[in-house]
Amino acid sequence: MQSKGTFYITTPIYYPSGNMHIGHTYTTVAADAMARFKKQLGYDAYFLTGTDEHGQKIERKAKEAGKAPQAFVDEIVAATKELWKLMDIEYDDFIRTTDRRHEIAVQNIFRKFYEQGDIYKSAYEGQYCAECEAFWTPTQLKEGNLCPDCGRPTEVAHEESYFFRMSKYRDWLIDYIETHPDFIQPPSRANEMLNNFLRPGLTDLCVSRTSFKWGVPVDFDPGHVIYVWIDALSNYITALGYSSDDESLLNRYWPADVQLVGKEIVRFHTIYWPIMLHALGLPLPKQVFGHGWLLFGNDKMSKSKGNVVYPAPIVKRYGVDALRYYLMREMPFGSDGNYTNEALLTRTNADLANDLGNLLSRTVAMIEKYFAGVVPAPDKKEDIDAALVARFEALPAIVEREMNALQFSVALSEIWKLIGDCNRYIDTTQPWVLGKSEEGLPRLRTVLYNLAECCRAVAVYVAPTMPSTPARIFGQLGVEDPALKTWDSVRRFGQLKPGTLVKKGEPLFPRIDVKKELGALSEPAGPAAEAAPLPEAAPAPEAAPVVEEKEEGFGVISAEEFFKVQLVTAKVVACERVPKSDKLLKETLDIGNGEVRTVLSGIAQWYAPEDMVGRTVALVKNLAPRKMRGILSEGMLLCAADDSGNLKLVTVDGGEFAPGAEIR
Ligand code: ME8
Ligand code: MG
Repeated sequence: MQSKGTFYITTPIYYPSGNMHIGHTYTTVAADAMARFKKQLGYDAYFLTGTDEHGQKIERKAKEAGKAPQAFVDEIVAATKELWKLMDIEYDDFIRTTDRRHEIAVQNIFRKFYEQGDIYKSAYEGQYCAECEAFWTPTQLKEGNLCPDCGRPTEVAHEESYFFRMSKYRDWLIDYIETHPDFIQPPSRANEMLNNFLRPGLTDLCVSRTSFKWGVPVDFDPGHVIYVWIDALSNYITALGYSSDDESLLNRYWPADVQLVGKEIVRFHTIYWPIMLHALGLPLPKQVFGHGWLLFGNDKMSKSKGNVVYPAPIVKRYGVDALRYYLMREMPFGSDGNYTNEALLTRTNADLANDLGNLLSRTVAMIEKYFAGVVPAPDKKEDIDAALVARFEALPAIVEREMNALQFSVALSEIWKLIGDCNRYIDTTQPWVLGKSEEGLPRLRTVLYNLAECCRAVAVYVAPTMPSTPARIFGQLGVEDPALKTWDSVRRFGQLKPGTLVKKGEPLFPRIDVKKELGALSEPAGPAAEAAPLPEAAPAPEAAPVVEEKEEGFGVISAEEFFKVQLVTAKVVACERVPKSDKLLKETLDIGNGEVRTVLSGIAQWYAPEDMVGRTVALVKNLAPRKMRGILSEGMLLCAADDSGNLKLVTVDGGEFAPGAEIR
């Protein structure tokens, strides 16, 4: 395939001061999903991650562990690479700041700055936070000389040092940021940089230290090691061969298209880094995106606070794709969000086991049942089919737009709208009714073909986020032709070949017993918990078509059982008495997405038909339809009943919610 152009994406290089947790995993999965997406679209994408191994903090940690710094970081880096393998991270290069290639290039960069007068030698006295590797001016420090970022005490650093003339580039940078609105994303972070750091004035930056040894030495003044942020930020170009005898990668991929960073290091990436690049005569990255934090409780999850969740136990229990999906779906990229196991499990059940898993298993099961496993050729198209096809064909542009804006959660929710449409399409077309008679068969062929084709597209769409799921979907659908697995193949509806042999397989995402699993996961977080052996995940109950589920008596139900009930807002568009009944009203309901339902309710004693029209009510949407007085009732309105059996409708506060809103 002809490349559509290049795409270079990076993550921060992480400190190997401890094992990587869900926070690091978050950025890395996002970058991986984006790189995979671009590759899927036909871009020549390059994805860099790595580790930031020098500095006082690492030196200290190694000492505490009784190890030489290099041996200390080697172990953590090995574990990090294992973790990325477990997370299905497909990086193109992994740079370590202790790589020889990097150290040489950083020395070249430092020397170039010195030779061209951007760096000068002077004496430094000031407050330094070793945890954040940052110097702070008296006005920036919190009371008691505490670091404004991490709150730890800072220490006085008094040494002969090299300084970078940041001040010289201040006006240029302000202008650049103001004239390049896409450079810092989200835009609020650009304002923060301008107002808090640039406009108040930019002081020269101390870029060498003599008080410790674990760093890249200044080659022309070996008592000094290069400040860790100069060392670290350079990785994005040294990995591409900057100043080496082969700069072909640099020429091909620089400037980066997107550099992902957590919001706490936006400052380094949008002030020091652009200035360094500008001083080197290189263009700036097209975008630095500062995403939000995964919080634990209300705190940022972080190695130094120790309040972290590790991915491995979660992946072992629920699979890598469930975790990747959750990370990309749960919170808008850019915002903070609380991490909870409960939200992970609930979402896995709702979106993956129910919505996606059930759609595939119902589709495949029905093709097996009614057409001996052979995907039927579609018959005539009806309006409802056209609506589904329209959603299908509109989706590529929407997904592309949202992914390009790094709105992973929005892209996924758009994909899930197609899945939702398919599930509703099953409810409405009622294939099990069509399958009962000869006359229903042509229609049933269309319905099942359409569902199978949508499942195929979903497999294509989820590939960047959930890399191992597509093969399992294609496997069940019997799709082998690589041409039917490409991004281009989902632009037009109807590529799946009738005659394809489907094959029912394992449920894609076994339903999780949330309560039980929460107990198992609640052991204290930390390396010990990470290493602890885990019991096997509970065997998955057979995923059955919703309509065939048997009725159970009342009693205690699990949250998971409750979540099977689909409750939505519905608007009464018409209402009349049911002839010859003094109890029943027949309502015509708008339930959103252009869908209309007929429902019978035993509320005629309390509500006049004309009182009903215009009300927003609560509908049980996935109740098995049943016939009363010859009319099919497709759902149930929720009512409160008092002791004497009087009924009042459950309504939505204010009533102004659009029909189809989820009630939960
Ligand atoms: O800052 N939520 O390394 P680091 C979201 N070495 N993202 C999180 C997170 C959380 N709770 N915790 C960590 C460094 N991250 C420097 C970077 S780059 C030239 C040098 C992610 O180990 C997020 O991307 O502290 C954050 O910016 C990064 O890990 C910090 O990793
Ligand atoms: Mg950090």
